[in-house]
Amino acid sequence: MAGVRGKKVLLGITGGVAAYKSAVLTRLLVKSGAEVQVVMTAAAAEFITPTTLQALSGRLVRQSLFDPAHEAAMGHIELARWADLILVAPATADFLARMAAGMADDLLATLCLATSVPIAVAPAMNQGMWSNPATEDNLRRLATRGVLVWGPDSGLQACGEQGPGRLLEPERLHQLVNDFFVGGDLAGVRVVLTAGPTREPIDPVRYLTNRSSGKMGFALAAAFANRGADVVLVTGPVALATPNGVERVDVETAREMDEAVMGALAGCSIFVGCAAVADYRPAVAAGQKIKKLEEHRTLELVRNPDILARVAAQPSPPFTVGFAAETQSVAEYAEQKRRAKGVDIIAANLVAGEEGGFERDQNALTVLWEGGMRELPLADKGQLARELVTLIVNEYGKRYPTEDPR
Ligand code: CTP
Repeated sequence: MAGVRGKKVLLGITGGVAAYKSAVLTRLLVKSGAEVQVVMTAAAAEFITPTTLQALSGRLVRQSLFDPAHEAAMGHIELARWADLILVAPATADFLARMAAGMADDLLATLCLATSVPIAVAPAMNQGMWSNPATEDNLRRLATRGVLVWGPDSGLQACGEQGPGRLLEPERLHQLVNDFFVGGDLAGVRVVLTAGPTREPIDPVRYLTNRSSGKMGFALAAAFANRGADVVLVTGPVALATPNGVERVDVETAREMDEAVMGALAGCSIFVGCAAVADYRPAVAAGQKIKKLEEHRTLELVRNPDILARVAAQPSPPFTVGFAAETQSVAEYAEQKRRAKGVDIIAANLVAGEEGGFERDQNALTVLWEGGMRELPLADKGQLARELVTLIVNEYGKRYPTEDPR
């Protein structure tokens, strides 16, 4: 983790049960050469002792705004200027609310208000608190002011409930701090993508699918990861290697893909639906192999969930990007699709003729968004993916103007 060496990290710890993970994070940061100044809230000290963090960081832990001895050594304004990065981990719902409101009612909140250095928060809370509109609203406000939001994870919580709200593991936070300093411009931005075809079972040996190779989705995942994003790629069955630094989730059916995507959305800033999801699945998947007994058979199909439309319809959706395959009137049909699904950007390709598309290494795209359009001419999918990512990031940046504080 060479990016961390010599850097000054002010680690804010607020009062959650996950505070114990911050001890490990402190150790990891110090081991890789960072200077760590811990600042704890009063509630944090209920969960972990300042003595532990003092021993691990090798510096006196700061807790109070009104401590004359500490203020004489380094006043709170000086402290706010000292750091290269302020990371609040865990950040409770209460702390995020205070920060969003611009409060300065304890040392850590005051530092966050006074500082001009980048701030990252790693939320940790009960899943109900995480999905409460008040918390969502606070996070949106913080994100538009350039605060980086790292996590949370989803899974079993200390309270026994299941869902989003777990603090990221210390190793992951360590990695994010490193990526931040290494300087990928999308460090800390979580991107979820779908790729490839889906398989809809007819019986144990047969299924419905399509010709999608997954190449475009994988190229996009690689392009996002190369710019430092935190990428989750949910893919149907394809014969492709996982790009470096990308977290891959393998699925088969549209419903599995839908479930995996919904489970990965917590903290997601950008969603790209690149998969050729089967619109229909057999109404029943036979438990045993179907025998050729009849002369005619009818296969009844039912609609699959529209994953992209469902993501776009979330209460606080990520920036959404969809694809459209058209055989004629590309821009017109694609714009209709963009509006119908409520997505921010749609990238359309002509699937008729020599232009590219399914199973090819090259493609050309017509990209549409509210009030804008760009043609990306025929190029190999890697090149095209990099151009499309740049376009997506530009439009995303206009929506959240101060998202990237550097
Ligand atoms: N999509 C999805 N879930 C589905 C169907 C499509 O997420 N069940 C996404 C695809 O990943 C892609 C976009 O929606 O981003 C494509 O929309 P769709 O309406 O399927 O477009 P076409 O395949 O072009 O559709 P149509 O058959 O209606 O022309």
